[in-house]
Amino acid sequence: MSATRRQFLKTLGAAAPALLLPKTGLAGMGGPGNSSTISVPLFQQPLKIPPVLQPVSSTAWQDVYELTQVSTSVEIIPGTQTPILGYNGMTPGPVLRVDSDRQTVVRHHNNTDVQTTTHLHGGHMQAGDDGHPIDYVNPGATREYVYSNRQLPATLWYHDHPMDVTGEHVYAGLAGFYLVSDDYERSLGLPAGDQEIAIVIQDRTFAADGSLVYSDNILGELGDTILVNGTPYPYLEVSTQKYRLRILNGSNARTYTLALSNGASFVQIGSDGGLLPAPVTRSTLTIAAAERVDVVVDFGNASVGQQITLRNTAGSGSTAEIMRFDVATVQDDPSVVPQVLRPIERLDPASAVQTRRWVFGMSGGPMPWVINGSPYDPYRIDAMPRLGTTEIWELSNRTGMMHPVHLHDVMWQIIDVNGRPPAAYDAGWKDTFQIPPMATVRVIGRFDDYAGDPNDVTSAYMMHCHILEHEDHAMMAQFVVVA
Ligand code: C2O
Ligand code: CU
Ligand code: CU
Repeated sequence: MSATRRQFLKTLGAAAPALLLPKTGLAGMGGPGNSSTISVPLFQQPLKIPPVLQPVSSTAWQDVYELTQVSTSVEIIPGTQTPILGYNGMTPGPVLRVDSDRQTVVRHHNNTDVQTTTHLHGGHMQAGDDGHPIDYVNPGATREYVYSNRQLPATLWYHDHPMDVTGEHVYAGLAGFYLVSDDYERSLGLPAGDQEIAIVIQDRTFAADGSLVYSDNILGELGDTILVNGTPYPYLEVSTQKYRLRILNGSNARTYTLALSNGASFVQIGSDGGLLPAPVTRSTLTIAAAERVDVVVDFGNASVGQQITLRNTAGSGSTAEIMRFDVATVQDDPSVVPQVLRPIERLDPASAVQTRRWVFGMSGGPMPWVINGSPYDPYRIDAMPRLGTTEIWELSNRTGMMHPVHLHDVMWQIIDVNGRPPAAYDAGWKDTFQIPPMATVRVIGRFDDYAGDPNDVTSAYMMHCHILEHEDHAMMAQFVVVA
């Protein structure tokens, strides 16, 4: 038993009984939140756009990047310093912009005093580079992760993924965008340049001195202050154009329902795994932890001086507001949203060689969250799908709260939710699925490209609930793709 596991059992033993009581409120998405002892005014700070990381070297087919994980302090609440863990000292970390089929090497230096392991969420790579929870990068060590980017363009993100403490480390700041594109996507004429913005929404709780309050709530950590790209309730000056917003819910547990205060709609063009076949107009977007929505918002009919807020209609009080768009200038808009985006190869359920059932439940034991009755064991392989084959996975929720279930390795398609086919916006490639209370979601995927060794646990891919405290409290399993 590892030191972290022992420590985890000790912590949980003290906290479990009271926390296991069912909770309502907060849309049923987690436990009671902590309260910040500092209050943050709305829309006072500009939205930060994290810098795009430049490669330290490049060849005809590969780019090498370097990131340093550090513990530092940054100003999040004006006039205070917040200790964080950050890639290159910032949260979110720098943005990596890469192209499909061009190899990326990311050299991570761990200058923190904790063990880390970096996972590229939505990435398709050898399991050995997938950031297995016990494949640690020790303090002071350096580790290279190799990503082939043999996948469709999509909004991915990298984040820390160590055994038992992923929630704490991501909360402390270890997350950043990894955007995959290609010539085809660039040829579509979608909003680009300053009109293409990646935003990560996260909820945090702050103490009076500006430090983060993290309670490792096993129902899911909820903060009462909403950060966008690391800034509480920012504003963004926009022009009268269309904007492409790549939205990531990077919160540990909270689910948001996004809406615009002027009643305008979002045109959704993509989801976790990339572009949809055709745009879908939606007035609200419900986005669970780790999901991504790629939307176009058109400010073309707005007038200068107008202020439009992005709201969370699933929240109340300080969690009901997210950010504000201030229309500042008039500009012609050369961008378009084509009616055909990227055709999708439909996976045929008849081609599946196997159906596996995964039941997300609770146990009465010290590790409350289980899959198929068992807490995660890093030395147990839970499934061995065959390379190149297609499988149907039935994800069943036997609890009273929604679990956003994430599958590593490849992208999947939803077949049905309680027997009903998904809405058009959920019918693209995805890696994270909202499994409503007591519901079953069937998904289909094909295990392409990479096989591992069943005798080497670090060649396993994870599947888990992405409420990070459920993951850390053992609602995780792993599979090795075998040749
Ligand atoms: Cu976003 Cu296994 O993680
Ligand atoms: Cu992942
Ligand atoms: Cu969960």
